[in-house]
Amino acid sequence: MSKDVRAIFAGSFDPITNGHIDIIERAAKMFSHLEVGLLINPNKKTLFTMDERVDLIREATKHLDNVSVISFDGLLIDYCMKNNIGVLVRGVRTIADMEYELQMAHMNKELNDGLETIILPTSKTYSFISSSLIKEVLHFDADVSNLVPTCVIEKLKEKNK
Ligand code: PNS
Repeated sequence: MSKDVRAIFAGSFDPITNGHIDIIERAAKMFSHLEVGLLINPNKKTLFTMDERVDLIREATKHLDNVSVISFDGLLIDYCMKNNIGVLVRGVRTIADMEYELQMAHMNKELNDGLETIILPTSKTYSFISSSLIKEVLHFDADVSNLVPTCVIEKLKEKNK
């Protein structure tokens, strides 16, 4: 563990998946504190509201003592500077992901040289999961119970009542 290093794992988490949880659990072991940062984007149409997503992430990460959940808007680097966060954690599944992640890492470094990006490869088991694909198959009532935390399934059932 990197003592006294605060890190953030940011995203839109609509919804949080087992792939995200895998990255969160592994990053939580590496840093003294990990924030899961939910990007507030009122213009983006989402399946779950912001409050629902925050609640779901909190529920799905409640077993991790050094993880907290926040929401932010604006530039991620600004949030990090104001909150003493030194590392951005990102997960990658594919080479295509890597190209986008490298661009973001370089841009964030350009904007704030003091911040580092750590890129973790997603575990093989979860390498095909994305929130968008989950939503696509859900639209056709597919069973995604192996792919997302139980609380997400419960929330979906509640919504469909
Ligand atoms: O879940 P996503 O879409 O992969 O998350 C992307 C996210 C939220 C990490 C990225 O879009 C972001 O940091 N947005 C905040 C605005 C910002 O800082 N943009 C510059 C990125 S180089």
